[in-house]
Amino acid sequence: MSSVYVSPRGFSDKMTKKGVKVLVLAVETSCDETSAAVLRDPDPYESGTRAEGTCPPPMAPEVLSNIVLSQDEVHAPYGGVVPELASRQHIKTITAIVGEALTRAAVGLDAIDLYAVTQGPGLIGSLLVGLSFAKGLAYYHKKPFIGVDHLEAHLEACFLENPGIAYPVLGLLVSGGHTALYLLEEPLSYKLLGRTRDDAAGEALDKIAKFLGLGYPGGPVIEQLAKNGDPKAFPFALPRTKDKSLDFSFSGLKTGALKLIREHGVTKESPRLPDFLASFEEIVARALVDHVRAAADQVQPRSLILCGGVARNTRLRTRFQDFARRSGIDAFVPSPKLCTDNAAMVGAVALKRFARSPGLSTDLDLDAFAR
Ligand code: KG4
Ligand code: ZN
Repeated sequence: MSSVYVSPRGFSDKMTKKGVKVLVLAVETSCDETSAAVLRDPDPYESGTRAEGTCPPPMAPEVLSNIVLSQDEVHAPYGGVVPELASRQHIKTITAIVGEALTRAAVGLDAIDLYAVTQGPGLIGSLLVGLSFAKGLAYYHKKPFIGVDHLEAHLEACFLENPGIAYPVLGLLVSGGHTALYLLEEPLSYKLLGRTRDDAAGEALDKIAKFLGLGYPGGPVIEQLAKNGDPKAFPFALPRTKDKSLDFSFSGLKTGALKLIREHGVTKESPRLPDFLASFEEIVARALVDHVRAAADQVQPRSLILCGGVARNTRLRTRFQDFARRSGIDAFVPSPKLCTDNAAMVGAVALKRFARSPGLSTDLDLDAFAR
């Protein structure tokens, strides 16, 4: 689309009018989930009585709908996401998913004040489907449009259910494509403390599951099969980077796992499979929480948050909460539906940005970015 400037119709007025709440339609197509959500901004005048000069407590937007269609069945036969199939699938389903999000929210497009979309990082073909769709709607309806960073959206998912999380916040983001630690000193500010130098944690789980022929995505399958396994049965060593940085590395762990699989003859059918998977899951969780501990020592956060698809994992959630309890730091993990890719978290970032700068509108020249 060429560089057409869209002037946001009446948006600033609505943002500042008492009792009028802004509606955002958000779209997420960064990888293999097609998602659309409608969120209503909280009314800042509704936050109850307060002493003069004090700030109202932060309120979360209301999620009126959050529709997520997974493409797992499309990619499962290949043991991983096939980018070309992912973008084709988004094209097939996006109209119905956006329609369903509007229907469940009981609103029409004419009620939408703001459009939001994941801009990147992700699969470029998949991102472009959502981006073009949201741009088209914003252009036609002459409404503001905003591109959202996918990683920022994952972090924001934690605040959707707990808007009052105290800063500074230390955030661990663990997904299929990313593993990173962030320091959040205030809303909408993110400082990268460390990230993976090779595989992401979810990627390591997915690759081991693929090697054993267990299916895709690997994380949930491993979790299910590891349920009754002994997490101490296989001798994994905690991975460490040689310097004192907070960067992660999971490729050594993956290679070590492949070696153990060969040495012990672990297969899809073998009785030791649950023990092996429980041990692997345990070491991944311990490696992640070990980094949180090192980072917490450095930055002394008031709160800890955990997000991204791998944050659905019960063992990781438990280890994370155990560490937080021992350290006396409040910890927050989104409910499972908000951990994996979804559009509600995208809408939440957009609403926060617009609450800060109501006149802000992203140019329609906005492009997708893969990394
Ligand atoms: O955040 P997400 O939906 O997509 C990316 O942005 O990458 O995360 C997907 C990742 C996959 O690697 C998947 O195996 C992992 O999250 N995952 C899990 C679980 N559910 C999804 N990993 C461990 N345990 C789970 N229950
Ligand atoms: Zn994601």
